[in-house]
Amino acid sequence: MHEIYILGAGGLGKEMAWHLEMLDIQSKGYRLVGFLDDDESKWNRQVYGYAVLGRLEEILRPGAFVLLGIGDPQYRSLGAKRTKAKGGIPYTLVGPNVVRAKNAACGAGAVLELGALLGPDSRIGDGVLVNKRVMVTHDVNVGDYCVLSPNVFLSGGSKVGVGCSIGVGATVLPGISVSKGCVIGAGAVVTRDLPAFSLAVGVPAVVKKRVPEWSTDDDSKCISASFSD
Ligand SMILES: CC(C)(COP(=O)(O)OP(=O)(O)OC[C@H]1O[C@@H](n2cnc3c(N)ncnc32)[C@H](O)[C@@H]1OP(=O)(O)O)[C@@H](O)C(=O)NCCC(=O)NCCS
Repeated sequence: MHEIYILGAGGLGKEMAWHLEMLDIQSKGYRLVGFLDDDESKWNRQVYGYAVLGRLEEILRPGAFVLLGIGDPQYRSLGAKRTKAKGGIPYTLVGPNVVRAKNAACGAGAVLELGALLGPDSRIGDGVLVNKRVMVTHDVNVGDYCVLSPNVFLSGGSKVGVGCSIGVGATVLPGISVSKGCVIGAGAVVTRDLPAFSLAVGVPAVVKKRVPEWSTDDDSKCISASFSD
């Protein structure tokens, strides 16, 4: 039996546990062992019926799978690095009712939640969270560790750089590029290219402020990624 741990025992962690249950992973030879979390106040408690076991570095054994239950791109990236440093394997989750074109590609540790869609020639990088009912249409490229909230719509040919967070129901119009590290507000419609580390909101989206920069890896890495499940 392969062991799976969920990193992050918050709300998104619960959603991940629920998705594993919906996928009936036991019949495929996997077992959800429990949650890993840095917050000591959560240790030895139950979350969605599973134990919070402790810190990743103290619990994880080489060869175990880790599903990222973290909603912040920077910490998703860090979680994947910590997983690999301990010999763990980022778990790629393809949820129920996910529809994907035959040549859509996604990187290691990406999560496609219930009802997500990946269109022809779309590319999703490592550790990307594609939430429920997100539409990633044709020729879209999404960089590593991005977080796409429920009902996000990425129009044909749009590009989202590494480590962006896009709020519920936001739309990126065709061919538009959102550079790395951007935060897009819920309900925004992005009609123009956005510079790196901008926070943009509204319809049409306007840049309200800059967000703190953090170190990201190569933006184009996801181009060579493929499904690992
Ligand atoms: C964009 C967002 C990240 C901004 O958060 P913040 O950094 O705390 O910024 P503030 O709340 O200080 O807002 C800054 C300004 O943008 C406005 N604003 C914030 N979110 C907005 C939105 N979604 N649409 C329109 N305007 C918005 C605020 O009213 C404020 O305007 P002002 O400067 O004129 O007063 C947040 O409001 C948001 O939309 N998050 C998405 C949440 C989400 O979808 N989560 C997924 C759950 S599954």
